[in-house]
Formats: sequence, C-alpha cells, structure tokens
Amino acid sequence: MISDFSGKTAVITGAGSGIGAALARRAAAEGMNVVLADIRFEDAAMVAAELGDGRALAVKTDVSDAASVTRLADLAWDRFGSVDLLCNNAGIVPGGRHRKVWEYTLGDWQWSLGVNLYGVVHGMRAFVPRMIAAGRPAHILNTASVAGVVSGSGSACYGASKHAVVRATEALYAGLKEVGAPIGVTMLCPGLVATGIFDAERHRPAAFVDGDGPVLESADLEAMRDELYRNATTPGEAADMAFAAIAEGRFYAFTTTAFDAAIRQRADDILARTDPSFEDILAMSRLDAGLDRGRGPS
Ligand SMILES: NC(=O)c1ccc[n+]([C@@H]2O[C@H](COP(=O)([O-])OP(=O)(O)OC[C@H]3O[C@@H](n4cnc5c(N)ncnc54)[C@H](O)[C@@H]3O)[C@@H](O)[C@H]2O)c1
Repeated sequence: MISDFSGKTAVITGAGSGIGAALARRAAAEGMNVVLADIRFEDAAMVAAELGDGRALAVKTDVSDAASVTRLADLAWDRFGSVDLLCNNAGIVPGGRHRKVWEYTLGDWQWSLGVNLYGVVHGMRAFVPRMIAAGRPAHILNTASVAGVVSGSGSACYGASKHAVVRATEALYAGLKEVGAPIGVTMLCPGLVATGIFDAERHRPAAFVDGDGPVLESADLEAMRDELYRNATTPGEAADMAFAAIAEGRFYAFTTTAFDAAIRQRADDILARTDPSFEDILAMSRLDAGLDRGRGPS
C-alpha cells in the first residue's frame, strides 16, 4: 500500500474519459507521474496535455490484447522507472441492455469479457510480477461495478464480466497477502457515474461487431438513461472516493449505498437456499440518481 503519492507513478487504463480521466487528474494533483492508456489515443493524449509538464504520458493501448498491455508496462517502466499505482479501469457496456441473456451476440460477449475481464487479467499478468519483484510498496485498483455484486435479467453480458472482475480482484487481494507482498488492492464498485460509458457502443471495434451491427438504445431508454445520469455521482467524486480507499489501504470502495438492499437480498437468498428474488435494480438506480428521495438507502 502507498500513503504518499508524490513522485510516484500511476498507470491508468481507460484514462481518456470518465472515471479514468478523473483518476489521472487526481493522480497528477497528488504529484504523481501518470501513464494514460486508452484505445482512443487522442482522448488520452488530450487529458495528458492538460496535465502537462512532462510527467504525463499517453499510450495507445487495447486492454483486450495481452501484447498491447505488456507494451504499456514496458513503456511505463522505461519512462518512469517504477509503477506504484496500477488502475485497471477501462470498461465498456454493450448496447441493448434490455436484451435477455440468450439474445446477446457472440461479439457482445467477446467484447464485454475481452475489455472488462481480460483487460484486468492482462493488467495483472503484465504488471503484478514486476511490481512484486520491485519490492516497493504499491497499490492496484481494479474498477469492477455494483453490477459485479448484484444480479437479475438486465445488462447480463456486462454484469457477468463484472462478477468475474470481482472474483479475480478478491483473488488478487488474497494472493498478494499470502506471498507477503507490500501491495494493497482496492476494488472500486461505482453505482451510477455520469460518464460516456453508455455511448461505448458507438466506438465498438470492428473485431467485435457481428449480427446486425451495433445495438443502439431506443429513444425512450435513452431518455430514461439521461434522466438517471443527470444527477449521478461525478467522475471526480468517484476518483476522490477511490483515492481515499487507496490512501487508507481499503479493499472496498463503493460510490453509493443505494444498491445495498439488492446485495443483501442476493446473499440472503443464497444462504437460505431460496430461489432468487432479485431486488428491482432500476428502482435502486433511481435512488442512486437522487430521483427517489422517498426511500433512503438501506
Ligand atoms: N459510469 C458508470 O456508471 C459506471 C458504473 C459502474 C462501473 N463503471 C466502470 O468504470 C470504468 C470506467 O468507465 P467510465 O464510466 O469512466 O466510462 P467511459 O466510457 O467514460 O470511459 C471508459 C474508457 O475506456 C476506454 N476503453 C474502451 N475499450 C478499451 C480498450 N479495449 N482498451 C483500452 N481502453 C478502452 C474508452 O475509450 C474510454 O476512454 C469501467 O470499467 C466501467 O465498467 C462505470
């Protein structure tokens, strides 16, 4: 775990937008060198230019590609000599979240698992052995999601990838403890954060396009989404919560308590061996967005 960030180096994937860009800004404000990795290089380069003064490096990286992430690690170590904070943060949501689990295309599954799960896997495989070998205090932040700890029929492709990220991140925490490495782990589980993630479909790489092509949301679903995200947590707030957890060496960093009833209900059903009852996630999203003030978070 690291307590003093100044002069240390952070590598952040998905740093061209949203939570990743906010993590990069916060890292720079803490006096860190920042390596900004994104498949959309121009976006990462724009954030890097804003951070300025030669301590920010943008690297075009496709986290779904192992070789691309290994190259990122090589460039980070070559340029700054150490990596003290790794944020495996890049993520996508395929369109058509109202679809049933059997209706997603193979491309949807490959893209979701490729970026959300394999992005984290490639990050761990390329960076963790080198961070352990360095023997320095360090920290790894994996961005999972509330979608990784709740369930139900909606957004199944994304949710399955995030459930897998939760499992891998818990194993990272336990494994590092077992080998006695001075490396802390934080699992960031955002609720609703006002970012560009629901436009990810518009940037889906050709390799993952199949069937009828991109599935864009209907106008009424887009309107509902816009309403939900208008008052959502800002990326800056999410980054501040992440950095607070990193500084305290805390594993769980949830941006909201609005989904706690669903987390509890799922665990209770499993322990009672009752059939799943799945709390209404949409109602909780409205609560997270501040649209349902009548019902306080549990
Ligand atoms: N916004 C939310 O409500 C929310 C909620 C829960 C979890 N999350 C998670 O937060 C993380 C950040 O998402 P965000 O909301 O900031 O979204 P965002 O779309 O604003 O940012 C994601 C970034 O990842 C990049 N990216 C996509 N595919 C990539 C690839 N193959 N390789 C490298 N970079 C790639 C995109 O170009 C983009 O810059 C994701 O893991 C997401 O699942 C977001």
